Amino acid sequence: MGKIEGIRIQNYGPLKNVIIGRTLSHRNLQPLGNLTAVIGASGSGKSTLADVFGFIADCLELGVEAACDMNNRGGFEGILSRGADGPISFELYYRESSRLTPITYELEINLDKMGRPYIQLERLRYRVQKIGRPLSFLHLQNGKGYAFEGKEGGQDEDGNVFGGENSKAQKKEVELADIRKPGVVTLGAMKQYDRIEQFLSFLKSWYLCYFSPDEARKLQTSAPQPYLDRSGSNINNVAQYMYRENKKEFEKVLQLIQSKLPGIEKIEPQKFDNGQMMLRFWEKGFDTPFYSSRMSDGTLKLFAYYLLLHEKNPRRLVFIEEPENGLYHHYLGDLAEEMKRNLRGGYTKQFFITTHSPFFVNALSPDDVWVLAKGPDGYSVAKRAAEYPFVKELAEEGVSVGDMWYSKYFEGME
Ligand SMILES: Nc1ncnc2c1ncn2[C@@H]1O[C@H](COP(=O)(O)OP(=O)(O)O)[C@@H](O)[C@H]1O
Ligand SMILES: [Mg+2]
Repeated sequence: MGKIEGIRIQNYGPLKNVIIGRTLSHRNLQPLGNLTAVIGASGSGKSTLADVFGFIADCLELGVEAACDMNNRGGFEGILSRGADGPISFELYYRESSRLTPITYELEINLDKMGRPYIQLERLRYRVQKIGRPLSFLHLQNGKGYAFEGKEGGQDEDGNVFGGENSKAQKKEVELADIRKPGVVTLGAMKQYDRIEQFLSFLKSWYLCYFSPDEARKLQTSAPQPYLDRSGSNINNVAQYMYRENKKEFEKVLQLIQSKLPGIEKIEPQKFDNGQMMLRFWEKGFDTPFYSSRMSDGTLKLFAYYLLLHEKNPRRLVFIEEPENGLYHHYLGDLAEEMKRNLRGGYTKQFFITTHSPFFVNALSPDDVWVLAKGPDGYSVAKRAAEYPFVKELAEEGVSVGDMWYSKYFEGME
């Protein structure tokens, strides 16, 4: 369970100071919903936003130094917003469920004396209504600080410890051996740090989709797997897993996809003697099926997205860049509708989509669409579509957000 209600990004490439949704410092803003679409012209910072999530995930897995050097990021200096001194920082405003108060995770990365990136600050805070100020239950500066065990308790800015009778005993001094690895990874691996463990499991459940139809077409050898990998190269294995775990659900998903792909009459899994599985697609006009290795990019992509929406224990945060590539525009509206239906309410999963497609955006409400644009200083500005003048009025008249966008309503109004 859990989702982010907002994110603040500072000094990450064109995202010099951007807030999307609600954060601790901007608690009056409206939180993000379960489906957020990000639109904007080329160069406005959409891919950079996707990469922020990828970067945080890479920091957890490999440490900040390796994360800075990966994915053509060009090291700390390449990432850092031009003209900024640093640090690169993020604030995630996270909520586990509607009953629990939000948690803020702050991560600040800077260069050490040797010129190597390290974690300058890391903090987890929550707000207790009765006390009225945020309490930290993890606070590390240059790898040193404290963390609280258990489910409650924390320390305020002045050093006062609150919450629960044992909270003083729950406070532990902490010093990390490696200042390039986030403390949440080390401490979250220990059972006694309940809240850190829970938050870490949320961070680890992100899925950043770089689906590649060519990868998905390759013959796959291994056994059933519960989750699609980043490129989708194990799509048959995931289908096989779903087929094994819950045939009924799998058949439902297949039927759903069939109904969205007009040329396809039937999709069937075929198991070979050696235990492998391939999907067979029956197309109108042919009396023998095609294997998935021969299917079009669009068909494979749609199939992957629908599988993603129907995971058994879904990944909690999914980021997809430009799902429209290779997809017929009429399928996109359907896909957006299906995502909306599937993601409605709850704290089980949340999708972020960057897109250039008005067809996709037409299915969404102005609250769920964020417009990125380059500001006069060259840095990105982010704004909810609903906050533009005219949008409310036009939406009430029945004009869809994608059509407003296409008609250039969002341009030149920053
Ligand atoms: N270190 C940096 N500081 C400021 N701006 C940057 C930095 N690195 C890249 N950019 C800007 O980011 C833009 C690329 O953004 P990108 O996220 O790829 O946009 P989009 O995906 O919306 O097309 C570049 O055109 C450049 O203007
Ligand atoms: Mg891009």
